[in-house]
Amino acid sequence: HVKRMTAPEITARKGGDPIVCLTAYDAPTASILDEYCDLILVGDSVGMVIHGLNSTVGVTMEMMILHGQAVMRGSQKALVVVDMPFGSYEDGKERAFQNASRMMMETGCQAIKIESGSYAAETIRYLVERGIPVMSHVGLRPQSHHVLGGFRARGRRESVANEIVENAKAAAEAGSFAVVVEGVSEDIADKVTEAVSIPTIGIGASAKCDGQILVTPDMLGLFDRVPKFVHKFADQKALVEKAASEYASNVKDRSFPRMENVYHFKK
Ligand code: KIV
Ligand code: NA
Repeated sequence: HVKRMTAPEITARKGGDPIVCLTAYDAPTASILDEYCDLILVGDSVGMVIHGLNSTVGVTMEMMILHGQAVMRGSQKALVVVDMPFGSYEDGKERAFQNASRMMMETGCQAIKIESGSYAAETIRYLVERGIPVMSHVGLRPQSHHVLGGFRARGRRESVANEIVENAKAAAEAGSFAVVVEGVSEDIADKVTEAVSIPTIGIGASAKCDGQILVTPDMLGLFDRVPKFVHKFADQKALVEKAASEYASNVKDRSFPRMENVYHFKK
């Protein structure tokens, strides 16, 4: 029986060894990542990278619960955080608690994440006081892409930069155990890391953040087009293409199934 990483242990890593985080949505991937990650996020990016949606706005509680359950089954050591989907937490702390507690009870996850604009501090405090560790998410907030006007990097202008630092500070003071900083200029990310007492987890942010996260199918190279901040650590698309094409030709020329793949009468 292995003990999982806890939210306070993540918080204690502020300014220390970089915190390794990736997303996962299924049990077998989670079981591989579990060996290398301190934190696994079941991101609402699942809507885009698994379900083929154009944005995360269409992601539901039911989808997040299903994928959260799979990742919990596949992992043993990492802290598992599940994203609260659009519409499940923004309009009030009570409803946020109802949905976040349901997420924890039905998946067994140890924490949730919310995209936190200036309105979020009250909700964060309410959840944390009632037993729900909260990871915040500032900068580019994909659930607000209709308001922000797209998925472009944020905080490359002074006014927006201050807003991002203020959002992160408010989220930290309200009791978040860590904060994701997405799609901001490097100097703003560094300002946030200096300004808050909790770890910053960068994605399209800065190497000086207290940790890093990427969307796993993006970093595995499943897609041709990925944001600038992604480094492809593998070429999964080419791997799948090669295997599928070899399989197709083996089926057509009847070289698959091979001898060792077929059953015979027992003698
Ligand atoms: O949904 C997601 O995968 C995320 C990460 C990119 C931080 O929120
Ligand atoms: Na997300």
